[in-house]
Amino acid sequence: NRGECPFGGTRIGGAQGSEPQLDHWWPNRLKVELLHQDPIEANPLGKSFDYAKAFKTLDLDEVKKDIKAFLTSSVDWWPSDYGNYGPQMIRMAWHSAGTYRRADGRGGASEGMQRFAPINSWWDNGNTDKSRRLLWPIKQKYGAALSWADLYILAGNCSLEIMGFPTFGFGGGRVDAWEPDRATYWGPEGWNGKKPSESAPGPLEGHPNQMVTRTLRWEGEPKDEYYDLENPLAASHQSLIYVDPEGPNGNGDPMDSARDIRTTFSRMAMNDEETVALIAGGHAFGKSHGMTPPEEIGPAPEGAPIEAMGMGWHNPKGTGFAQYTMTNGIEGSWTPNPTKWDNDYLTNLFKFEWEQTKSPAGALQWKPKDPNAPKTPDAHTDEMHPLMMMTSDIALITDPEYRKVCEKFLNDFDAFTDAFSRAWFKLVHRDMGPKVRYLGPEVPEEDLDWQDPIPDLDHEVVNESDIATLKSKMMNAGLSVSDLVFVAWSSASTYRDSDKRGGANGGRIALEPQSGWEVNDPGRTEKVLKALRLIADEFNDAQSGNKRISLADAVVLGGCAAVEKAAKDAGVDVTVPFTPGRMDTTQELTNVEFFEWLQPVSDGFRNYHREDIVYNVPPEQLFLDRAMLLSLTAPEWTALVGGLRVLDTNWDGSKHGVFTDRPGTLTNDFFVNLTSPAYTWKKADEDGMSFTLNDFKTNEVKFTATRCDLIFGANSQLRQIAEVYGANDGHDRLVKDFVAAWNKVMMLDRYDLAA
Ligand code: HEM
Repeated sequence: NRGECPFGGTRIGGAQGSEPQLDHWWPNRLKVELLHQDPIEANPLGKSFDYAKAFKTLDLDEVKKDIKAFLTSSVDWWPSDYGNYGPQMIRMAWHSAGTYRRADGRGGASEGMQRFAPINSWWDNGNTDKSRRLLWPIKQKYGAALSWADLYILAGNCSLEIMGFPTFGFGGGRVDAWEPDRATYWGPEGWNGKKPSESAPGPLEGHPNQMVTRTLRWEGEPKDEYYDLENPLAASHQSLIYVDPEGPNGNGDPMDSARDIRTTFSRMAMNDEETVALIAGGHAFGKSHGMTPPEEIGPAPEGAPIEAMGMGWHNPKGTGFAQYTMTNGIEGSWTPNPTKWDNDYLTNLFKFEWEQTKSPAGALQWKPKDPNAPKTPDAHTDEMHPLMMMTSDIALITDPEYRKVCEKFLNDFDAFTDAFSRAWFKLVHRDMGPKVRYLGPEVPEEDLDWQDPIPDLDHEVVNESDIATLKSKMMNAGLSVSDLVFVAWSSASTYRDSDKRGGANGGRIALEPQSGWEVNDPGRTEKVLKALRLIADEFNDAQSGNKRISLADAVVLGGCAAVEKAAKDAGVDVTVPFTPGRMDTTQELTNVEFFEWLQPVSDGFRNYHREDIVYNVPPEQLFLDRAMLLSLTAPEWTALVGGLRVLDTNWDGSKHGVFTDRPGTLTNDFFVNLTSPAYTWKKADEDGMSFTLNDFKTNEVKFTATRCDLIFGANSQLRQIAEVYGANDGHDRLVKDFVAAWNKVMMLDRYDLAA
């Protein structure tokens, strides 16, 4: 009767925000709004809340005591297996961290994203909703001083410890996000919270909430015969943390499984030894749950009825928990003593011949052929059960390389313990960035190469008058504004906020592999570094005390001096902020292989786009991705591009986007020309990758451009910002905004200051 009474309370046409919306009509539009995710307005703790400060008020020993006491208790609504919540907490912590991927640094434990969809509803995260809810009394007690993200990992560590495993350490400091992440591309499969093989062919690529950020495959990377596991994905299927335990697409083939494990674990920056240590270490504990066929299980948390209060996967069998629990579908435990750290997992793996069988839920798993093999106790009753292995476990002794590692660990339990301890520490801290970000009394002394170590500041830093002298020397060293800006930008813009790696600190621009990156134009960079090194050395040699300037600082200072000059030449006096204190690190402290992952394959800031890569998305999408990784807002992104273009900083010296007759001067010419109706813009190649700006009347080519230039005039949202800077009152604003954004980028990695 909707039409009868205008006050009937029924909205015709759906609620606010229901589809169709923008992305439904225009799925290929550039989603600029992704730059403004998780705004402070979404955070109930507000702007002034300082998590590090709050965390420091905690007595970590007390917190751990509370967690450990809880772990060996049991509640009625979700009784603990074997009277110990440890194993399920380890799995939750591992899944929280295990979404990390090295290629773009996204995923990982550091923002507590397991609380939100889609991750909270991935089939592979089945029943982690219970683990998180079980921790609520602990979280409630410590409130804002202990983030969920930290609590998940700490609970994992406490669990290992109560079962006799010596952890390597714990660093707090993970700041919770307050919104689901809409940017990360998790893969093309449809997902509906059910196991992938059972999920309906769902909304595939181009689903509105799944922006394709970096869908690319390295040239030469083998195309998988089952599926093309796209870079940067680190799971073989959407909604899995890594691989299907039953083998690819449930095929039960251990060798195929090993291949998937190697691909996915290495995408997460784990080598063979670390991979074996993690899987064999993790599966020393707990059990798999498979008492009910998956089709009888209720919807995942995000789709569950309101009275489920945020929990999902309702199991209709028996009580639905304890001995009836259904999580993954495989049933059983790997060892006779699933709450004790021992070497039984590997012992059993080698000792018995394993044959395939099915769980009560119908999943493919393995049991010992030998009927006299030791049994494992039921987690809730007096029954005993055969031991269990998954296809992904059998993989470890089937693949010859993994097998070698297994043999080593089988024969040397201490080496295994040490390897698992270190690999676990890496797993759960990998996305936290430099060690100075770790908080609390359990941060290990030892520096680890994946932490990208930079020595602590060991000298007095330059003062205002030194800075003025150095700047003038740098500007008189025969280097152009463009050279100095290019090198400072190249150094600082390696930063990615996803895993807090990169940045200007450490001076790694002068070290391998960065010094050889094509995008850094090695010849030009070396010329600038040589001149800056000379100036820095001369300054340092002249000091009688302990005052020094590092090369890392000199690189940034050179950029700042050049921006000031460029602004002055455009008629605006401005001081570009400079905060000294960066240190130079060494080649020995730089893991070349890890650093290689920071090399951009496409970087719109310097108009760089590698040609030897198969891209599924246009350069402007990848450019948005880089802006996102630098945590820029849309106005900051726009101001930086407009400034960098007129400062003539393309990687190869090309004039694409240099829409000015006065290169090296900080004008607003980029925006004036970009928005000018006096031009027509024409494709200069078949693919639409480069363009010309032609005089509308004479057709004379005035400028050339790439997609990464034109997008600021073509995209409706970016154009609004470009018009602000291109207006008659836009120049001063541009200089001010450029300088602020520049300083932000130069300072992105200065965690040393907060520490
Ligand atoms: C449980 C798969 C790696 C720790 C499980 C379960 C599956 C699984 C299917 C059963 C879930 C359930 O039904 O309750 C895999 C696969 C891996 C892998 C395919 C990689 C190839 C790891 C790693 C760790 C780990 C690296 C930790 C370092 C655990 C623990 C449990 C478990 C502790 C027991 C949970 C409980 O008792 O509730 N794993 N896992 N797993 N996994 Fe893994």
